[in-house]
Amino acid sequence: MNRLLIATVVAGVHVALSANLANAEDASITAGRQLALEVCSVCHVVAPDQRFAPRLDQRTPNFEEIANRPGMSAEFVSHFIKTTHWDESTIPMTMPDPMLTDDQVSEVASYILSLRKHP
Ligand code: HEC
Repeated sequence: MNRLLIATVVAGVHVALSANLANAEDASITAGRQLALEVCSVCHVVAPDQRFAPRLDQRTPNFEEIANRPGMSAEFVSHFIKTTHWDESTIPMTMPDPMLTDDQVSEVASYILSLRKHP
């Protein structure tokens, strides 16, 4: 009987912890989506319902497309965002460094990866 009680409590705590982790993940995705709408949507389609479509001469990959590339990972996205520079040799346009904090980089990466259809 006691053992059953302990097992039940342990299972309950486990469920509660996973729910907390899931909430933290959701919060990060929501923050990343907001940031992407504000900072990245000038040049990328970041969400199908964004208010303004990018108006560039050049095509940029949309976030759903980036997310669904084979082998795409949060590490790749974070690394790209953090190491990208304005590069005159690839004119008309390369992606400028958006100068985000580490937290913002990880949030925007969580958002992009949340668009992946087959995890
Ligand atoms: C001034 C325009 C501009 C802004 C703002 C911008 N990007 Fe980009 N981005 C580009 C262009 C152009 C490319 C494709 C050329 C290249 O790879 O540099 C690109 C490529 C990328 C790629 C690489 C996709 C691939 O092909 O593998 C990622 C990831 C990305 N952007 C994420 C972001 C995120 C996240 C933000 C917002 C924090 C953002 N971009 C803001 C112009 C922009």
